[in-house]
Amino acid sequence: MSHQNSLIQTLQDLETEALSAIRAAADGEMLEALRVSFLGRKEGRISGILRGLGELSVDERPPVGAEANRVKEVLQEALRAREAEVISSGGQADEAVAGAEDLTLPARHSWKGGVHPVNRVIDDIWSIFRSMGFVRARGPEADTEWYNFLALNTPLDHPAADEQDTLYLKDSLLLRSHTSPVQVRTMEKHEPPIRILAPGMVYRRDSYDATHTPAFAQIEGLVVDEGITFIDFKATLAEFARRFWGSGTRVRFRPSFFPFTEPSAEVDVKRMITMKDGTRVESDWIEIMGAGMVDPNVLDNVGYDSERYTGFAFGMGPARIAMLKYGVPDLRIFFQNDVRFLSQFTAGSAQ
Ligand code: PHE
Repeated sequence: MSHQNSLIQTLQDLETEALSAIRAAADGEMLEALRVSFLGRKEGRISGILRGLGELSVDERPPVGAEANRVKEVLQEALRAREAEVISSGGQADEAVAGAEDLTLPARHSWKGGVHPVNRVIDDIWSIFRSMGFVRARGPEADTEWYNFLALNTPLDHPAADEQDTLYLKDSLLLRSHTSPVQVRTMEKHEPPIRILAPGMVYRRDSYDATHTPAFAQIEGLVVDEGITFIDFKATLAEFARRFWGSGTRVRFRPSFFPFTEPSAEVDVKRMITMKDGTRVESDWIEIMGAGMVDPNVLDNVGYDSERYTGFAFGMGPARIAMLKYGVPDLRIFFQNDVRFLSQFTAGSAQ
């Protein structure tokens, strides 16, 4: 390396060293000491280097001189900037942080996004059925009398189809009063085997009080294949209940009626509850869903061979389940979007 180039290299190494020392300097005194040691006219290290210029030929000198001036300017600017920082933080800049942060400022409040408790319940239910091989299905919220009632073996003069309960949009178009129309739409599009879960909103002409809302979520389930029996039906739903509420949960199938299932059942669970002192007690029986074996008429309506295929279906209300799970006494709380309530359900907490 020529003498000229080695001087330029020395200046650049010095620049790097000086800049990191300046950045780490904690107060004005240290900065002044650095200024003297690097830029001082007599003792300063840059001046020292420039003294070696004499050994260079006349045309080798200018580039070294120019580089020395550049480094001086950079260091002067760095000293000025760091001095301003040190002063604004009261001369107490933290060596470790060595930035412009004012460590005495109160922390900024951070908002953490949450998952609505009803959606949490839907997610938990979904992950259990997904692990059993179900896939997700969906259908429109505005649907026709055919899908909401007729294809589901429900005559329009059935109480459930009564205009008192169903919100009609126009003619035979209505807001679906349950998620069961998704059963029909799925079977129309796909051949068995079918194993679907379909969460979605449903609408009814209901009052708005502690236990009713005119719009609420439902989760529909449907399984259809050759050889599906009542045993598959009971075992699948009992397995779901034990995974959701714990292995000590008891499950009961009570005879019931739905036009689209035969036989039909209402499914109740009795949970084990751990008290504050650690003792375990059984809850009351609580109803969690309507269910049953798919009525052969429904299979016929979608063009399935009801001699060959059988299936079961179920429908549940996640808001009701969320009320039980989180001890919420009034459904309306789920709709009020009060951040004080919702912020208890940040992701990963409030189990
Ligand atoms: N659709 C029924 C309701 O809304 C629930 C249900 C679904 C019952 C599937 C049986 C089978 O009440």
